[in-house]
Amino acid sequence: MATPKQAKAVKTAVKKYKNYIGGEWVAPSSGQWFDNVNPADTSDIVGRFPNSGREDVDRAVAAAKEAATRWRRTPAPKRAEILFTLGEILRKNKEAYTQQMTREMGKVLKEAGGDVQEAIDCTYYTAGEGRRLHGFTTPAEMPNKFAMCVRQPVGICGLITPFNFPMAIPSWKLIPALVCGNTVVLKSGEDVPLSALNLVKACEEAGIPKGVVNLVNGERDAGAALVEHPDVRLISFTGSTATGKKIAEHAARENKIVSLEMGGKNAIIVMDDADIDNAVEGSLWGAFGTSGQRCTASSRLVVHKKVYKKFCEKLVERTKKLRVGSGLDPKTEVGPVINERQMDKVLGYIEIGRKIDKATLACGGNRLTKGDLSRGFFIEPTVFTDVKPKMRIAQEEIFGPVTCVIPFSTLDEAIDIVNGVQYGLSSAIYTQDVNRAFHAMQELYTGICYVNSATIGAEVHLPFGGTKGTGNGHREAGTQVLDIFSEWKALYIDHSGKLQKAQIDEVEI
Ligand code: UN1
Repeated sequence: MATPKQAKAVKTAVKKYKNYIGGEWVAPSSGQWFDNVNPADTSDIVGRFPNSGREDVDRAVAAAKEAATRWRRTPAPKRAEILFTLGEILRKNKEAYTQQMTREMGKVLKEAGGDVQEAIDCTYYTAGEGRRLHGFTTPAEMPNKFAMCVRQPVGICGLITPFNFPMAIPSWKLIPALVCGNTVVLKSGEDVPLSALNLVKACEEAGIPKGVVNLVNGERDAGAALVEHPDVRLISFTGSTATGKKIAEHAARENKIVSLEMGGKNAIIVMDDADIDNAVEGSLWGAFGTSGQRCTASSRLVVHKKVYKKFCEKLVERTKKLRVGSGLDPKTEVGPVINERQMDKVLGYIEIGRKIDKATLACGGNRLTKGDLSRGFFIEPTVFTDVKPKMRIAQEEIFGPVTCVIPFSTLDEAIDIVNGVQYGLSSAIYTQDVNRAFHAMQELYTGICYVNSATIGAEVHLPFGGTKGTGNGHREAGTQVLDIFSEWKALYIDHSGKLQKAQIDEVEI
């Protein structure tokens, strides 16, 4: 988890936002607040948010507990009806949310709009499940006996979300949790508390009953208190692998349900038969969209030797032309990174690429400080070429505007390179050859795989998540997310009027 962006500005009258607990907007009992700072301009403070402690989390969990029975007993189609209203509210406010998101997170307006749209799509799609939430019936072993199964809520869910998709990722967790009949406490990334607050405010406006949705703002301590709370049955976490593993360790000891979505080191394969211009466009979008701060970012470009030179030339030429600046300027193509710590980490990886890995720095590599840019956390879009698959920059998640180009000779070699990392979120191949495309789809061991497009751009009605170090086997989005937020209950109804013993009694034919 990142530390809050450092405010370098004089603290003038800044709007204070509160926690949302049991249907009330309340100040933190800790009395502590933190500043939400615009990463494109650190003199701009977006708002002041509660730096909540254990006591605030306890109150939020108590409120969620109090509301649980009523919400669980509300018929799922009725729960869904309220969520459809929520969808309408999100739609109505899309533009305002988009502006506010860009201001607190930095991504360009178009992408922030996409983030809000993803939350809208998730809300409508998942609310539709309220009239399905299908179980199944199946024959029983014995005569005059009926068997079926239904989904039941798991209880109180703690949702911990990152900075990079400030509204979409909270919605991926919140909406399915609610449609399944759970109550929740949300702790959003401390760099982007306003977008989560907007989502929760919309829940209030939609008429979701008090205590069903609770919001606790804060940093690491608030997250830890939520994870450790004995009444929290489930933790759904998106963020760093290091934090995810800690959560999983705790969850294992306390027997909590835990779903994790962690790092990625995603790759695009560019075959010698690919449409190179299309592959370059896709690579730029995949590598530098959201300033590379996506779990799905195309941080490795694995390119066939026959087209390697041409591809690198075109990629570098296009990369150099990308406009870096404030995301609020509609002409900007690449915004800042989220905070100083993240900027230092990315610049540190660029150093590793140059000095330790000794890859070729083809373009970029520096912090940008000219004019207004000096007030934000801007890094030049950076391309390393002649990268070897085992180099650190080709193995570790950088989470910034840095990509590396790795040459290869055969498709199987490329597939081994793509699979040869600890993560398994997203992969892609550019080719015109259907046999190669299907071979890659079969052999790439990732949760998501694209043909002729970049590694980013997942849609909400398909499962999202990754293999290996990326996750722990769960999938968000789609209908698959329901398996995180509900548990199966098998029901047997014996209407024979006598004792029948499964596995033991002989059934007469
Ligand atoms: C993430 O990077 O954590 O597929 C989520 C995508 C987006 C979601 C990314 N729809 O790139």
